[in-house]
This record gives sequence, C-alpha cells and structure tokens, in this order.
Amino acid sequence: MENKTTVLTLCSIKGGVGKTITAIEIAKCLAAAGKKVLQADCDLNNSLSGYHLDEPMMEKTKKLNFAAALGDEDNNLCDFAVPTNTPGIDLIASSPYLSDLRTVSEKRLKRMIPSLYGKYDILIIDCHPTYDNIVLNALHAADYAITPVLKDLFSYNAAVFLSQVIPRDVEGFENWFILLNGYEKRYEESKSGRQNDFVDLYRNSGLPLTPASTWLPWTSGIYQIIDYRKKLCGAKNVPGAVCNEALYSAVTELAGCFFDEALDIPEAF
Ligand SMILES: Nc1ncnc2c1ncn2[C@@H]1O[C@H](COP(=O)(O)OP(=O)(O)OP(=O)(O)O)[C@@H](O)[C@H]1O
Ligand SMILES: [Mg+2]
Repeated sequence: MENKTTVLTLCSIKGGVGKTITAIEIAKCLAAAGKKVLQADCDLNNSLSGYHLDEPMMEKTKKLNFAAALGDEDNNLCDFAVPTNTPGIDLIASSPYLSDLRTVSEKRLKRMIPSLYGKYDILIIDCHPTYDNIVLNALHAADYAITPVLKDLFSYNAAVFLSQVIPRDVEGFENWFILLNGYEKRYEESKSGRQNDFVDLYRNSGLPLTPASTWLPWTSGIYQIIDYRKKLCGAKNVPGAVCNEALYSAVTELAGCFFDEALDIPEAF
C-alpha cells in the first residue's frame, strides 16, 4: 500500500504571527532529514512562493498553482507542484486567482489529498491570515493544524476565535495546536512579567499549546535565514550557517512531531 501523506496546516486570522517562517523552517528541516516535502501557498500575498521560486519558475506558476489545482476535483495535485530552490521541497504556488475558489466546496482539497500518496511524505499548507473557505479546505484536509501566536492580546483573541470555530466547522478535528512565537528563555525564571502572563493566559483558558520545547525564540537570525537564505545550525557551529541553538532545537522538535520514527536531522538545514 502507498504511504499516506501527512497534512500540516499553518493558519491564523491574525497576520504576521510567523505562519510562513514556521512553514519554511519545518519544510527545510524535514527535507534535510530525507522526507519528501510538498508545500502549498494559499496566500494571495505569495510570500512562500516568493521565498522558494526564482523568476523562470515563478513564470511556470501562472499555470501551475493552487487555484488551478483546485479548479477541478479530478486533478492530480502532483501535476501542479514545481521544484523549489531547496532539494526535497516542491511547491504548489500561490495565484492571483485564489479568490476564484470562493465557491469551492470546503472539503475539495481533502478529497484530492490521496493523489499525493506515495509521492510526498508531508504537505505543509501556508494559509493567508483570514478564515474563509480556502482556510477551511486546508483545515478539513489537515492531520495537524498549527496557529502561531505572538505575546500580544490580538494573537490571543485570534486563538480564542479559532478555538470556537474550528470544532464547530471541522467535525472531530482534535489536532489543532497553538505555537508560541517569540519565546525568550531569559524570562522563564521570572515570577511575573508579560511572557509568563501570556503562557498562563493560554494555559488557564485551556487552549492547546504545543510543548514548550517547540516554542520559537524571537531572533534577528530569522532575517538572515529567510532573506539571505542561510542555513540554520544549533549547538555545533557550521560555517556559513546562522547559529541559534534555541531556534534549531525548537524547529527540530516541532518537525519531529509529525512522524513516528526518529528523524535523522543534519547539523544545519
Ligand atoms: N521568531 C521570530 N524572530 C524574528 N522575526 C520573526 C519571528 N517570527 C516572525 N518574524 C518576522 O515577522 C514577520 C512575519 O512573519 P511571517 O511572514 O512568517 O508571518 P505570517 O503569519 O506568515 O504573516 P502573514 O499573515 O502576513 O502571512 C516576518 O518579517 C518575520 O521575519
Ligand atoms: Mg505568511
């Protein structure tokens, strides 16, 4: 039997919380560990496509993109994937015609996922910051969904909103989690303070936080990694890579959550 493809959705109604950087870092980590990774860019703002593709490949996405893929339920999703600059990662790109999907059934993507079986180990979907039927397609198709949050009230309000609508709209879905982005270890010991207040707020509200080992630190290294496409390394310094032990450890922990077996993750990815 063909191996199933795990589907991970990154979503939030709040913008700028780290959906795209999380999608990129998990994908890079898993691809470096030998997994076959497909990403889907469901954001009209096409950050993920812009990160992954150079101009000639971007040209191809005028035909091969997420809107075209979902245009016909009989499509094979693999036919709409293009290779990215990162070995092991393919992408179904964004499109200006994503808005044409406004009337598509919320479960169409879910029904199309089996076309990926045997070809990709994981599909990572990066959503735009809203709650509409494209996001609902990504949620219905998902095995796991993650909402990154910053340490601010607007992120918290967005998480509360999703905690109410996801159980209402996606029956039986239990794998929605909240990922703290911007966690700083140095405040861990303080008895009070903004960071601990927010952690307590999530815990006391019963919102499903991921384990603390996966919380992403706030670091200027992200700009080096994303804007200058540098690799990330952890404790062991790898020449040319951005060395950030906390980020490396959080990303590898998070990436490991989606597979039963231990991953063989290199020192830099
Ligand atoms: N942990 C972090 N450390 C430093 N910068 C970060 C971190 N997380 C996110 N950022 C920065 O915040 C900005 C927003 O991140 P990102 O684009 O991933 O958010 P998003 O949720 O995908 O936004 P949108 O909703 O607009 O798609 C980016 O400029 C990114 O570099
Ligand atoms: Mg984004």
